[in-house]
Amino acid sequence: MAPILKIDNLAVHYKTRFGQQVHAVKGVSFELEQGKTFGIAGESGCGKSTLVNGLMALFMPPLFYTHGSVIIDGEDITKFDKERLRINILGKVISMIPQGALNSLNPTRKVKDFATDVMLNHHPEMNKKEIHELLRNRFALIGLDPRVLNNYPVELSGGMKQRVVIGISTLMDPKVVIADEPSSALDVSTQKSVIKMLMDLMDKGIIGSMIFITHELPLLYHVADDIAVMYEGKFVEVGKTDQIIFRPQHPYSRELMDAITKLSSEGERYDAKDKKGVVA
Ligand SMILES: Nc1ncnc2c1ncn2[C@@H]1O[C@H](COP(=O)(O)OP(=O)(O)OP(=O)(O)O)[C@@H](O)[C@H]1O
Ligand SMILES: [Mg+2]
Repeated sequence: MAPILKIDNLAVHYKTRFGQQVHAVKGVSFELEQGKTFGIAGESGCGKSTLVNGLMALFMPPLFYTHGSVIIDGEDITKFDKERLRINILGKVISMIPQGALNSLNPTRKVKDFATDVMLNHHPEMNKKEIHELLRNRFALIGLDPRVLNNYPVELSGGMKQRVVIGISTLMDPKVVIADEPSSALDVSTQKSVIKMLMDLMDKGIIGSMIFITHELPLLYHVADDIAVMYEGKFVEVGKTDQIIFRPQHPYSRELMDAITKLSSEGERYDAKDKKGVVA
Protein backbone atom coordinates (compact mmCIF):
# COMPACT_ATOMS: atom_id res chain seq x y z
CA MET A 1 0.00 0.00 0.00
CA ALA A 2 1.28 3.50 -0.83
CA PRO A 3 2.24 5.56 2.24
CA ILE A 4 -0.31 8.20 3.27
CA LEU A 5 2.50 10.69 3.88
CA LYS A 6 5.90 10.89 2.22
CA ILE A 7 8.46 13.49 3.28
CA ASP A 8 11.50 13.98 1.12
CA ASN A 9 14.50 16.06 2.22
CA LEU A 10 12.35 18.70 3.94
CA ALA A 11 14.20 21.73 5.24
CA VAL A 12 12.79 24.92 6.79
CA HIS A 13 14.32 27.97 8.40
CA TYR A 14 13.47 30.98 10.55
CA LYS A 15 14.48 34.50 9.64
CA THR A 16 15.37 36.51 12.70
CA ARG A 17 14.76 40.24 13.10
CA PHE A 18 18.45 40.81 12.48
CA GLY A 19 18.33 39.08 9.10
CA GLN A 20 20.00 35.85 10.20
CA GLN A 21 18.67 32.45 9.15
CA VAL A 22 18.15 29.68 11.71
CA HIS A 23 18.09 26.33 9.91
CA ALA A 24 15.89 24.49 12.39
CA VAL A 25 15.02 21.50 10.13
CA LYS A 26 17.85 20.46 7.83
CA GLY A 27 16.66 17.83 5.37
CA VAL A 28 14.30 15.25 6.88
CA SER A 29 12.89 12.23 4.99
CA PHE A 30 10.44 9.54 6.11
CA GLU A 31 7.24 7.75 5.17
CA LEU A 32 4.09 7.17 7.22
CA GLU A 33 2.09 4.06 6.32
CA GLN A 34 -1.69 4.03 6.57
CA GLY A 35 -2.92 2.89 9.98
CA LYS A 36 0.55 3.23 11.56
CA THR A 37 2.10 5.50 14.15
CA PHE A 38 5.45 7.14 13.51
CA GLY A 39 7.22 8.39 16.65
CA ILE A 40 9.72 11.24 16.71
CA ALA A 41 11.91 11.71 19.79
CA GLY A 42 14.54 14.32 20.54
CA GLU A 43 15.64 16.83 23.13
CA SER A 44 14.16 20.29 23.60
CA GLY A 45 15.11 22.65 20.76
CA CYS A 46 16.08 19.93 18.26
CA GLY A 47 13.36 21.10 15.83
CA LYS A 48 10.36 18.83 16.50
CA SER A 49 7.67 21.52 16.57
CA THR A 50 9.29 23.34 13.65
CA LEU A 51 9.11 20.09 11.69
CA VAL A 52 5.39 19.80 12.58
CA ASN A 53 4.76 23.21 11.01
CA GLY A 54 6.73 22.14 7.95
CA LEU A 55 4.70 18.91 7.67
CA MET A 56 1.52 20.99 7.60
CA ALA A 57 3.08 23.50 5.18
CA LEU A 58 2.34 26.27 7.69
CA PHE A 59 4.89 28.73 6.43
CA MET A 60 4.27 32.06 8.09
CA PRO A 61 6.98 34.56 8.97
CA PRO A 62 9.35 34.08 10.68
CA LEU A 63 9.16 30.45 9.38
CA PHE A 64 10.10 29.84 5.73
CA TYR A 65 10.28 26.90 3.38
CA THR A 66 13.84 26.02 2.32
CA HIS A 67 13.47 22.86 0.19
CA GLY A 68 11.91 19.40 -0.02
CA SER A 69 8.43 17.93 -0.40
CA VAL A 70 5.49 16.84 1.78
CA ILE A 71 3.38 14.46 -0.28
CA ILE A 72 -0.04 13.63 1.15
CA ASP A 73 -2.40 11.47 -0.86
CA GLY A 74 -0.11 11.90 -3.86
CA GLU A 75 0.07 15.73 -3.76
CA ASP A 76 2.89 17.98 -2.58
CA ILE A 77 1.24 20.42 -0.15
CA THR A 78 4.29 22.68 0.05
CA LYS A 79 3.14 23.92 -3.37
CA PHE A 80 -0.44 24.74 -2.23
CA ASP A 81 -1.55 28.31 -1.59
CA LYS A 82 -2.88 29.14 1.89
CA GLU A 83 -6.56 29.08 0.88
CA ARG A 84 -6.35 25.66 -0.77
CA LEU A 85 -4.48 24.38 2.27
CA ARG A 86 -7.09 25.71 4.73
CA ILE A 87 -10.16 24.53 2.84
CA ASN A 88 -8.94 21.17 1.50
CA ILE A 89 -6.15 19.90 3.70
CA LEU A 90 -5.83 21.26 7.24
CA GLY A 91 -8.07 19.54 9.76
CA LYS A 92 -9.45 17.13 7.15
CA VAL A 93 -6.45 15.39 5.68
CA ILE A 94 -3.83 16.39 8.23
CA SER A 95 -4.50 17.83 11.67
CA MET A 96 -2.31 18.76 14.58
CA ILE A 97 -2.73 18.55 18.33
CA PRO A 98 -0.50 21.49 19.14
CA GLN A 99 2.21 21.47 21.77
CA GLY A 100 0.89 23.23 24.85
CA ALA A 101 -2.64 22.20 23.89
CA LEU A 102 -3.62 22.87 27.49
CA ASN A 103 -3.42 26.58 26.69
CA SER A 104 -4.77 26.42 23.17
CA LEU A 105 -8.44 26.77 24.09
CA ASN A 106 -9.70 30.34 24.24
CA PRO A 107 -10.22 31.17 27.96
CA THR A 108 -13.05 33.61 27.18
CA ARG A 109 -15.10 31.18 25.06
CA LYS A 110 -17.10 28.11 26.04
CA VAL A 111 -15.68 24.89 24.58
CA LYS A 112 -18.59 24.59 22.16
CA ASP A 113 -18.22 28.16 20.83
CA PHE A 114 -14.47 27.74 20.38
CA ALA A 115 -14.95 24.42 18.56
CA THR A 116 -17.66 25.98 16.38
CA ASP A 117 -15.27 28.76 15.31
CA VAL A 118 -12.67 26.14 14.37
CA MET A 119 -15.20 24.16 12.31
CA LEU A 120 -16.59 27.24 10.55
CA ASN A 121 -13.08 28.18 9.51
CA HIS A 122 -12.87 24.94 7.48
CA HIS A 123 -16.57 24.44 6.69
CA PRO A 124 -18.12 27.86 6.11
CA GLU A 125 -21.18 26.16 4.60
CA MET A 126 -22.21 24.52 7.91
CA ASN A 127 -24.57 26.17 10.38
CA LYS A 128 -24.05 26.38 14.13
CA LYS A 129 -26.87 23.97 14.97
CA GLU A 130 -25.35 21.26 12.77
CA ILE A 131 -21.95 21.84 14.31
CA HIS A 132 -23.30 21.67 17.89
CA GLU A 133 -24.99 18.38 17.11
CA LEU A 134 -21.83 17.03 15.52
CA LEU A 135 -19.88 18.06 18.63
CA ARG A 136 -22.34 16.39 21.04
CA ASN A 137 -22.36 13.15 19.04
CA ARG A 138 -18.61 13.06 18.60
CA PHE A 139 -17.85 13.83 22.26
CA ALA A 140 -20.20 11.02 23.34
CA LEU A 141 -18.59 8.63 20.84
CA ILE A 142 -15.09 9.26 22.15
CA GLY A 143 -16.03 9.04 25.82
CA LEU A 144 -16.14 12.74 26.66
CA ASP A 145 -19.14 13.98 28.63
CA PRO A 146 -20.96 16.31 26.17
CA ARG A 147 -21.74 18.60 29.11
CA VAL A 148 -18.14 19.87 28.97
CA LEU A 149 -19.13 21.66 25.77
CA ASN A 150 -20.86 24.23 27.96
CA ASN A 151 -17.81 24.75 30.15
CA TYR A 152 -15.17 27.43 30.00
CA PRO A 153 -11.57 26.08 29.86
CA VAL A 154 -10.86 27.32 33.40
CA GLU A 155 -13.54 24.92 34.71
CA LEU A 156 -11.72 21.86 33.31
CA SER A 157 -8.77 19.86 34.66
CA GLY A 158 -5.55 19.69 32.63
CA GLY A 159 -6.27 16.15 31.47
CA MET A 160 -9.82 17.05 30.45
CA LYS A 161 -8.60 20.11 28.53
CA GLN A 162 -6.12 17.95 26.66
CA ARG A 163 -8.83 15.41 25.82
CA VAL A 164 -11.15 18.19 24.65
CA VAL A 165 -8.42 19.60 22.38
CA ILE A 166 -7.86 16.11 20.95
CA GLY A 167 -11.62 15.78 20.37
CA ILE A 168 -11.73 19.10 18.51
CA SER A 169 -8.55 18.44 16.48
CA THR A 170 -10.00 15.14 15.22
CA LEU A 171 -13.58 16.26 14.48
CA MET A 172 -13.06 16.05 10.73
CA ASP A 173 -11.70 12.47 10.83
CA PRO A 174 -8.21 13.44 9.65
CA LYS A 175 -6.18 10.87 7.75
CA VAL A 176 -3.05 11.97 9.59
CA VAL A 177 -2.84 13.45 13.10
CA ILE A 178 0.33 14.99 14.46
CA ALA A 179 0.42 14.93 18.26
CA ASP A 180 3.18 17.29 19.43
CA GLU A 181 4.13 16.19 22.97
CA PRO A 182 0.47 15.59 23.85
CA SER A 183 1.21 14.20 27.28
CA SER A 184 4.39 15.86 28.48
CA ALA A 185 2.72 18.46 30.74
CA LEU A 186 0.56 15.84 32.46
CA ASP A 187 1.05 13.47 35.39
CA VAL A 188 1.74 9.84 34.58
CA SER A 189 -1.80 8.50 34.98
CA THR A 190 -3.30 11.34 32.93
CA GLN A 191 -0.57 10.74 30.32
CA LYS A 192 -1.77 7.17 30.08
CA SER A 193 -5.38 8.21 29.57
CA VAL A 194 -4.43 10.68 26.82
CA ILE A 195 -2.35 8.07 24.99
CA LYS A 196 -5.16 5.53 25.39
CA MET A 197 -7.60 8.05 23.94
CA LEU A 198 -5.42 8.54 20.85
CA MET A 199 -5.14 4.77 20.40
CA ASP A 200 -8.93 4.40 20.73
CA LEU A 201 -9.44 7.08 18.08
CA MET A 202 -7.23 5.06 15.76
CA ASP A 203 -9.11 1.84 16.58
CA LYS A 204 -12.41 3.57 15.87
CA GLY A 205 -11.08 4.77 12.51
CA ILE A 206 -11.46 8.46 13.45
CA ILE A 207 -7.72 8.98 13.06
CA GLY A 208 -6.13 7.21 10.10
CA SER A 209 -2.43 7.41 10.98
CA MET A 210 -0.45 9.29 13.60
CA ILE A 211 2.83 11.08 14.14
CA PHE A 212 3.59 11.14 17.88
CA ILE A 213 6.24 13.55 19.11
CA THR A 214 7.96 13.42 22.49
CA HIS A 215 11.23 14.14 24.22
CA GLU A 216 10.91 10.79 26.05
CA LEU A 217 12.12 8.11 23.67
CA PRO A 218 11.05 5.13 25.87
CA LEU A 219 7.44 6.36 25.86
CA LEU A 220 7.31 5.56 22.14
CA TYR A 221 7.66 1.85 22.90
CA HIS A 222 3.96 1.84 23.79
CA VAL A 223 2.81 4.01 20.95
CA ALA A 224 4.86 3.82 17.76
CA ASP A 225 5.44 1.31 14.96
CA ASP A 226 8.50 3.17 13.68
CA ILE A 227 10.69 5.75 15.40
CA ALA A 228 12.98 8.57 14.29
CA VAL A 229 15.50 10.07 16.68
CA MET A 230 15.98 13.77 15.97
CA TYR A 231 19.05 15.81 16.84
CA GLU A 232 19.87 19.38 15.78
CA GLY A 233 17.34 19.50 12.94
CA LYS A 234 18.07 16.05 11.46
CA PHE A 235 16.98 12.46 11.93
CA VAL A 236 20.10 10.68 13.20
CA GLU A 237 18.41 7.25 13.26
CA VAL A 238 15.17 5.84 11.88
CA GLY A 239 13.95 2.28 12.42
CA LYS A 240 11.35 -0.12 13.74
CA THR A 241 10.35 0.54 17.35
CA ASP A 242 11.95 -2.65 18.74
CA GLN A 243 15.24 -1.88 17.02
CA ILE A 244 15.44 1.72 18.23
CA ILE A 245 14.38 0.91 21.81
CA PHE A 246 16.31 -2.34 22.34
CA ARG A 247 19.21 -1.95 19.91
CA PRO A 248 19.79 1.77 19.32
CA GLN A 249 22.75 2.23 16.98
CA HIS A 250 23.42 5.95 17.12
CA PRO A 251 25.20 7.21 20.27
CA TYR A 252 22.57 9.93 20.69
CA SER A 253 19.71 7.38 20.61
CA ARG A 254 21.54 5.42 23.34
CA GLU A 255 21.92 8.60 25.35
CA LEU A 256 18.17 9.29 25.12
CA MET A 257 17.39 5.78 26.38
CA ASP A 258 19.97 5.96 29.18
CA ALA A 259 18.80 9.37 30.36
CA ILE A 260 15.47 7.93 31.45
CA THR A 261 16.96 4.80 33.05
CA LYS A 262 19.30 6.87 35.17
CA LEU A 263 16.75 9.48 36.23
CA SER A 264 13.89 7.15 37.10
CA SER A 265 13.43 5.89 40.63
CA GLU A 266 13.78 2.19 41.44
CA GLY A 267 10.03 1.47 41.39
CA GLU A 268 9.29 2.86 37.96
CA ARG A 269 12.65 2.14 36.35
CA TYR A 270 12.38 1.80 32.61
CA ASP A 271 13.49 -1.73 31.90
CA ALA A 272 13.35 -2.29 28.19
CA LYS A 273 14.16 -6.02 28.39
CA ASP A 274 11.24 -6.70 30.73
CA LYS A 275 9.07 -4.47 28.57
CA LYS A 276 8.07 -2.43 31.61
CA GLY A 277 7.81 1.16 30.47
CA VAL A 278 7.12 4.44 32.17
CA VAL A 279 3.50 4.20 31.06
CA ALA A 280 3.11 0.41 31.18
N1 LIG B 1 10.49 32.09 15.95
C1 LIG B 1 11.73 31.60 15.93
N2 LIG B 1 12.76 32.33 15.45
C2 LIG B 1 14.02 31.84 15.43
N3 LIG B 1 14.35 30.61 15.87
C3 LIG B 1 13.38 29.84 16.37
C4 LIG B 1 12.01 30.28 16.43
N4 LIG B 1 11.25 29.29 16.97
C5 LIG B 1 12.12 28.28 17.24
N5 LIG B 1 13.38 28.61 16.88
C6 LIG B 1 14.58 27.77 17.01
O1 LIG B 1 14.40 26.59 16.23
C7 LIG B 1 14.96 25.47 16.92
C8 LIG B 1 13.91 24.38 17.02
O2 LIG B 1 12.85 24.78 17.89
P1 LIG B 1 11.58 23.87 18.11
O3 LIG B 1 10.60 24.65 18.91
O4 LIG B 1 11.16 23.31 16.83
O5 LIG B 1 12.18 22.69 19.03
P2 LIG B 1 11.45 21.48 19.75
O6 LIG B 1 12.23 20.27 19.43
O7 LIG B 1 10.01 21.48 19.41
O8 LIG B 1 11.64 21.82 21.30
P3 LIG B 1 10.67 21.48 22.55
O9 LIG B 1 10.91 20.03 22.90
O10 LIG B 1 11.19 22.39 23.63
O11 LIG B 1 9.26 21.77 22.16
C9 LIG B 1 15.47 25.98 18.26
O12 LIG B 1 16.85 26.18 18.14
C10 LIG B 1 14.75 27.28 18.45
O13 LIG B 1 15.54 28.17 19.19
MG1 LIG C 1 8.28 21.60 20.50
